[in-house]
Amino acid sequence: MKHIIIRGGRRLEGVLPVQGAKNSVLPVLAATILHPGVTVLRGCPRLSDVEASIRILRHLGCRTDWQGEELVVDTSSMSRWDIPDHLMREMRSSVIFLGAILARLGRAEMSYPGGCELGPRPIDLHLAALRKLGAAVEEKGGRLCCTGAAMEGREITLSLPSVGATENAMLAACGARGETVIVNAAREPEIVDLQNFLRSMGCAVRGAGSSTVCVVGQRATRDSVHTVMPDRIVAATYLAAVAAAGGEVELTHVDYRHLSTVTAALHEAGCRVLGGDGRIFLRSDGKLKAISPVRTAPYPGFPTDAQAILMAALLRSRGTTVFVENMFDNRYRHVDELCRMGADISVEGRVAVVTGVPRLSGAAVRCTDLRGGAALLVAGLAAEGETAIEEIQHICRGYEDPVRDLAALGGEIRWEER
Ligand code: EPZ
Repeated sequence: MKHIIIRGGRRLEGVLPVQGAKNSVLPVLAATILHPGVTVLRGCPRLSDVEASIRILRHLGCRTDWQGEELVVDTSSMSRWDIPDHLMREMRSSVIFLGAILARLGRAEMSYPGGCELGPRPIDLHLAALRKLGAAVEEKGGRLCCTGAAMEGREITLSLPSVGATENAMLAACGARGETVIVNAAREPEIVDLQNFLRSMGCAVRGAGSSTVCVVGQRATRDSVHTVMPDRIVAATYLAAVAAAGGEVELTHVDYRHLSTVTAALHEAGCRVLGGDGRIFLRSDGKLKAISPVRTAPYPGFPTDAQAILMAALLRSRGTTVFVENMFDNRYRHVDELCRMGADISVEGRVAVVTGVPRLSGAAVRCTDLRGGAALLVAGLAAEGETAIEEIQHICRGYEDPVRDLAALGGEIRWEER
């Protein structure tokens, strides 16, 4: 079984480009279905979640082809509207295909996406949005059977700014007649990237990045080329690693505005952080201080995906930092693993209290989920001795090659079969 082995304590230094964003390319891959033709995705990250989406596209009858860093998708031969259980189980966020398949073929079928490591992952807002557009959605025997051959544009108000529900509503609305207005839409940068892609295909979408997104459906679409935006959480991960271990890094191909709450926290912890012109520079002496409470929230608030990562960076800080996880019910599963390395963290419901310790010790640890796994990378680089991380498949869902990237910064890190 593959492990990641880290020998911590080394200063990190270097220049590193940031990969394309997982949480942008997944809805974009679903959106390629809206056009019966060819899409070229530049900067498409090679991730297991991307491979899972490719398997779904191929099952639906589409063709995909890696050409270097580019992924070419041709959906002209799409012939199916169903996603089988085994493909849904590979990646619960496959529910994002629902709106796109419905818009293209007027019907869609898939098994109910289960929960995941983060706890229950309801899709009630997704289904309510589709029903508002006039789709019939039947939930039986663990499967979703949807028909919507004559969807009409409507005003959809989301009871909370769900990223996935916003994206599914946008994609379904592209197949509806007339205008759809999505109120209380999520404002994440990945939604803006999806809008940019839809526009490049000829769709009429505006307002992404604000709480109100408008779509005028049934527009003629065309072949297009799209460059996937940088991954702000991967950028946050590498900044946190340098902050924790000490050193200096310049990240390129990154928009510092997309992770300003994370860089503000690292600045408060004592790092020197500068951003601009597609780059972020960070310098740290590795001796951080505790910061004011970190409360996760929808964008532009502090991203839940960076909670574990920032926590790992603060394990040796002077003082105590309080985290409040407001987005998911079960997003402290990394805490036990960090405590095996000597961290002092106590959890009570949504609150985690992190008290800095003088040193961390390398240990045998396991990934519990994607960002919990990334937190182990950060902690391992700051720990004394060797850290062996197993269950690394979780990390591979969202990070192209963290060993390559962190080794490029001087980290003593390698893959190993055990
Ligand atoms: C997206 O998940 C991201 N995934 C998540 O990243 C991210 O943590 C999350 O947004 C929040 O930013 C992708 O983009 C593929 P939500 P999503 O719908 O769309 C509740 C990672 O690590 N909710 O905004 O599923 C839900 O339970 C992953 O890269 C409902 O109640 O998130 C959660 O508490 C993890 N009903 C809250 O809303 C619904 O119908 C936010 O979820 C939908 C969501």
